[in-house]
Amino acid sequence: MVMKTLILKVNPNRPALSKIRLAAKLLEEGKLVAFPTETVYGLGANAFDERAVKKIFEAKGRPLDNPIIVHIYSIEQLYEIAKKVPKRALMLAKSFWPGPLTMILRKKACIPDAVTAGLDTIAIRMPSHKVARLLCKEAKLPIAAPSANLSGRPSPTNAKHVIEDFKGKIACIIDGGNTNIGLESTVVDLTAKRATLLRPGGITAEQLSKVLSELKVHEVARADKNARVAKSPGTKYRHYAPKAKLILVEGAKEKAIEKATELAKRFAEKKKVALLILASKKKPRLKGVIVKRLYQKSSIAKRLFALLRELDSKNVDIIIVNAIDEKELGLAIMNRLRRASSERLKV
Ligand code: TXA
Ligand code: MG
Repeated sequence: MVMKTLILKVNPNRPALSKIRLAAKLLEEGKLVAFPTETVYGLGANAFDERAVKKIFEAKGRPLDNPIIVHIYSIEQLYEIAKKVPKRALMLAKSFWPGPLTMILRKKACIPDAVTAGLDTIAIRMPSHKVARLLCKEAKLPIAAPSANLSGRPSPTNAKHVIEDFKGKIACIIDGGNTNIGLESTVVDLTAKRATLLRPGGITAEQLSKVLSELKVHEVARADKNARVAKSPGTKYRHYAPKAKLILVEGAKEKAIEKATELAKRFAEKKKVALLILASKKKPRLKGVIVKRLYQKSSIAKRLFALLRELDSKNVDIIIVNAIDEKELGLAIMNRLRRASSERLKV
């Protein structure tokens, strides 16, 4: 069924209240609204409304066992939906909220099972983006919202990406331009004995450890082996994947770039190839290959998903990319690259 999708363009720094109120009203009516956050765009529904939440799974083609993050506006709302709020949650909230940090806590019964995929825990975050914040405030509801992409596709970092995936399928898209961070929030499990980082994201493990020295980084966070946990069901699916085959070359930087360049040259004889060079000041010139270069980790994070979509739209067959170190934002970047890759090789 095709529906009319209302597109509301707003200034991300000073969103018009009338437009946000209109979107908030649609949420109250049980409809889906996509909106920008500081990480990626979210596909939101009223978290108390089971039927509305089910529409998210349907629209995304999301596996039913993958729970959704709930977005809140205030600490009062946190107590409304979380059964226990441990001291360490308040410490993290004080340092990193509003911002790109998601905490897993025990849930209250007012949150329907569809949101948490039947788990007794709930993922909660307080976004800092003005549009997301104002929408949560005006809706006076916690908003359940996964990233606003079809399941398995790269997450959306601007409204155009959301339009590609959902025009005609959801009630409304708020267009607030490009998101700032470009990778999703960091997910930390606070129901475990030791606070455990499950998904690296906008807040780094180093930043978290300064507040919670006990923090443990779960092996799924590196996405290195095929480590999967029932704890964070989302980690078991191949993700962020472009249509093109992505080959990730790991190893010492210079060597990895050399190998990636050599592979690109070889594949380009038969296929449409893109070479993505990361964290290097040099950009190789190769005939017949689309070469992209990103230097700083913050700009890699910001541009990565958009670049994967852009290369898909150019019908690239193979994307070859070199690995970077896993310090700071590097951990989140490598997590996404590994999970997007269909082949990895080490040099
Ligand atoms: O930055 C973000 O986090 C974005 C924006 C829209 O807020 N949202 C986002 O949602 O990335 P999504 O659904 O794409 O990823 C949510 C992740 C999944 O890996 C999911 O398995 C995990 O959080 N998750 C959600 N609820 C959980 C729970 N109760 N226990 C463990 N993991 C949970
Ligand atoms: Mg997602």
